[in-house]
Amino acid sequence: MTLKTDGPLVLAGAGNMGAALLAGWLERGLDPSAVLIQDPSPPPTTQALLARYGLSTSPRLEAPAVPPAVIVVAVKPQIMDEVFPALARHAGQRTVVLSIAAGRTLAGFERHLDQRAAVVRAMPNTPAAIARGITVAVANAHVSPAQRQLCDALLRAVGEVEWAEDEGLLDPVTAVSGSGPAYVFYLAECLAAAGVKAGLAPDLAMKLARHTVSGAGELLARSSASPAALRESVTSPNGTTFAALQVLMGPDGLAQLMAEAVAAATRRSCELAK
Ligand SMILES: NC(=O)c1ccc[n+]([C@@H]2O[C@H](COP(=O)([O-])OP(=O)(O)OC[C@H]3O[C@@H](n4cnc5c(N)ncnc54)[C@H](OP(=O)(O)O)[C@@H]3O)[C@@H](O)[C@H]2O)c1
Repeated sequence: MTLKTDGPLVLAGAGNMGAALLAGWLERGLDPSAVLIQDPSPPPTTQALLARYGLSTSPRLEAPAVPPAVIVVAVKPQIMDEVFPALARHAGQRTVVLSIAAGRTLAGFERHLDQRAAVVRAMPNTPAAIARGITVAVANAHVSPAQRQLCDALLRAVGEVEWAEDEGLLDPVTAVSGSGPAYVFYLAECLAAAGVKAGLAPDLAMKLARHTVSGAGELLARSSASPAALRESVTSPNGTTFAALQVLMGPDGLAQLMAEAVAAATRRSCELAK
């Protein structure tokens, strides 16, 4: 279905994540003339995308003639206080603000908006760059069903979307899926390093690790079986995989380490929230 907005779409921040979203929207048929982009210096990859669709960016957007249907905020959380107040002035009664900024709360946005302003806070992850992301979103009480549907469609352009009722869940979500791709990249690094220790040349070890992680990830993506079932299907009793899993699944194994890592990221997300 073609993506449509009932009014202009303002995008603030066309870096990694903003550009990934923009690419997804345009691929899904969003009319480029409906898009207004604020970014003082978009990276070269974004510029190529903009050129393809005849779009340009502005360092500071003037208020559009018609209030935007949606203002998508994709700037770094650190500059939000500087950037958002001016954007908030462009919001009309039917505008929904959709933020993907880590740690920026619904209340933080509401402070700059009318009392009944609609705000959605979402946490995507980097596989959004290849439309394979997963996002969890939470809406404040003023978001209408149509606005929620619009935000869902905008986020779904880069992957799966789940909605949560409790904003507090965005801290563990950040710890699991927001930060999660880095854990998987680190798993590939560790697997390669272990291969080198076991006698493989570094290039070969890295190639094996990269293909193993990405291939197993793709298998998981395409299969309806659980990760545990997929694991069991490649583990023969007393075989090589079994021997390795005895270590990984031991008392101080990966489950314990992962739980500690996710707890640390959750705590940090709570600390950074404002
Ligand atoms: N990347 C991820 O995996 C990920 C995951 C979940 C959530 N997020 C959230 O997504 C947001 C964007 O992250 P990102 O990785 O895409 O960052 P990014 O690549 O740095 O993109 C941010 C863009 O905003 C631009 N910008 C700077 N000042 C601006 C202004 N006044 N108005 C409009 N744009 C301005 C930056 O330009 P300059 O580079 O010139 O400053 C940059 O092009 C963050 O809030 C982050 O928490 C990211």
